[in-house]
Amino acid sequence: MSLENQNILSAYEWLTKLYHHLLRFTKDGKEGYSYFKDRGVMDESIDEFQLGFAPNVKDFTAEFLVKKGFHQQLLIKAGLVTLKDDNSVTDRFRGRVIFPIRNHLGKTVAFGARSITDQGPKYLNSSETELFQKGKLLFNFDLAKRYIRKESEAVLFEGYMDVISAYQAGVKNVVATMGTALTESQAKLLKRYVDTVILCYDGDRAGLEATYKAANLLRSVGCIVKIAKLNEDMDPDSFIKENGAEAFQNEVIKASDTFISFYMRFMKQDYNLSVEGDRINYIATILNQLAMIDSPVEREYYVKELSNEFDFSMDTLTDEIQTIRQKKG
Ligand code: UTP
Ligand code: MN
Ligand code: MN
Ligand code: MN
Ligand code: MN
Repeated sequence: MSLENQNILSAYEWLTKLYHHLLRFTKDGKEGYSYFKDRGVMDESIDEFQLGFAPNVKDFTAEFLVKKGFHQQLLIKAGLVTLKDDNSVTDRFRGRVIFPIRNHLGKTVAFGARSITDQGPKYLNSSETELFQKGKLLFNFDLAKRYIRKESEAVLFEGYMDVISAYQAGVKNVVATMGTALTESQAKLLKRYVDTVILCYDGDRAGLEATYKAANLLRSVGCIVKIAKLNEDMDPDSFIKENGAEAFQNEVIKASDTFISFYMRFMKQDYNLSVEGDRINYIATILNQLAMIDSPVEREYYVKELSNEFDFSMDTLTDEIQTIRQKKG
């Protein structure tokens, strides 16, 4: 590793400790501590994830690190401070709670920083560096790895708080992308450790669309995908807050859908099923997907579902699938 990168890691390490200490033990970090308490984050989790608080002071961080001997230029490069026109520096994170983003070896390589008021963007992240490429990293992979391996199953979320809540609730094989679409590199990383990935994105429309894309990508690298169901207005964190750990285990994680069930549900939004033509097109779309399933038992399971819902005989649907399969060879 280059000396510069070693220094960047070292700066992040100092700051992780400082921000965490401020939040946990000082008056300057009290707002941050109360914020996490209000959201139900326990001290144990605050410590495990090294959550912190960056005070609302213009150059608190810059000053601290320069005193420690770091060059200003390095701090800019590390994505921690920005340079103003008058050559003064300003901290990137001010008055925000801090989520250290650790690489797979457990070293902090970036911060996610959440506003604790309604002002400004909800989250700010460190800018990308050689050490922090959003698309190559999964939040919490270092802690989750042993649980992921043990269960040969990983749960994938959208955000920091989802991971922390689930982990705290005892579901520990959990990681998250950080607000961006799942990349091939992340999918392959998961595939190296598991057979099955449970997708558990937010229940809103954006979450549903992202789920469909992520599911296809994961399947393309050979993962079995299951999909957790959350109401429109829920994300995993809010579900846990409202319904508790046990409900999350039983009603969300264990009750997750197969990809095909999700697909049948997801595709419905593109069709008006009270119109005959749409209904037929919808069924054709689903049958095409079912034709790709190699197991006859599995095919029959979904054919039965379709047959019940749309009042076509199982024979008709099965014949149709056979025709599609023959055409595809
Ligand atoms: P969400 O909007 O779902 O946020 O974004 P959240 O995780 O539920 O956050 P809370 O519960 O309101 O605190 C999911 C993830 O997308 C990234 C963050 O990583 C966030 O956890 N994100 C979101 C950003 O990077 N910037 C943003 O402005 C918003
Ligand atoms: Mn979201
Ligand atoms: Mn949201
Ligand atoms: Mn969310
Ligand atoms: Mn949330």
